[in-house]
Amino acid sequence: MTETDVAERKRSGDIPLHGPEGFEGMRRAGRMVAECLDMLTEHVKPGVTTEYLDRLAFEFIRDNGAYPACLHYRGYTKTICTSINHVVCHGIPNDKPLRDGDIMNVDVTLILDGWHGDASRMYYVGDVSRRAQRLCEITYECLLRGIAAVKPGATTNDIGAAIQTYAEAERCSVVRDFCGHGVGKTFHASPTILHYVEPAYNVVLEPGMFFTIEPMINLGRPQVKVLSDGWTAVTRDRSLSAQFEHMVGVTETGVEVFTDSPKGLDKPPYPLG
Ligand code: MF3
Ligand code: CO
Ligand code: CO
Repeated sequence: MTETDVAERKRSGDIPLHGPEGFEGMRRAGRMVAECLDMLTEHVKPGVTTEYLDRLAFEFIRDNGAYPACLHYRGYTKTICTSINHVVCHGIPNDKPLRDGDIMNVDVTLILDGWHGDASRMYYVGDVSRRAQRLCEITYECLLRGIAAVKPGATTNDIGAAIQTYAEAERCSVVRDFCGHGVGKTFHASPTILHYVEPAYNVVLEPGMFFTIEPMINLGRPQVKVLSDGWTAVTRDRSLSAQFEHMVGVTETGVEVFTDSPKGLDKPPYPLG
């Protein structure tokens, strides 16, 4: 989501609350996204193109009776986003081979029986530097800490605080220009989930809310710019950036994660690839 979307969400303020049927729909959509990300792990290696990975994801989603949500979304022409090294998010798959040492986020969104599944993970291409691995570890920990802050009565700023405090203690920075979002029957809904503290936007969490947490963490400064293709967001200082994304639901007692890997492949390094 962009800053303009955030402004619109602040005005509208209506947040859907879902029941058991919604939870069931999101479990199924979330599981399929996680399985798609699992499927890709063994294909990510030097020499492979992101266009090839996009095709694999498209076929996986189609063959499982779902639809790729990003395809034709606001003019986007691919199934997945592939964001490599200093690309923060919304990298467009292309015919350039992956190179040894790259780190890449793959973000998959699909629609299954009307419910959106949206998740992303980092992947290592061959041998990755210690710095890059450390950034991925910190970013994954940011996601886990954000999720741990979710329960009824907590607020969206509790999520932001958990993420920002940890990232900055590790001398990294939190991207401000993109955020998590409500998700369900629609792709991008209320509430907005900022990955930093913003007192001007704070929503109290209630059972039945569904949203993503998807922190983008930079080794350098937080500033981002969008390239002339209208999508690819990169760090202004060209520092490395990482992101992980889960979809969660607020339950009566805490949180349910819809996009956990059935195979335990939630973060790199993965056994194959
Ligand atoms: N999946 C991204 C998110 O987490 C959105 C991608 S939109 C696209 O919100 F059009 F770039 F695919
Ligand atoms: Co998302
Ligand atoms: Co996503």
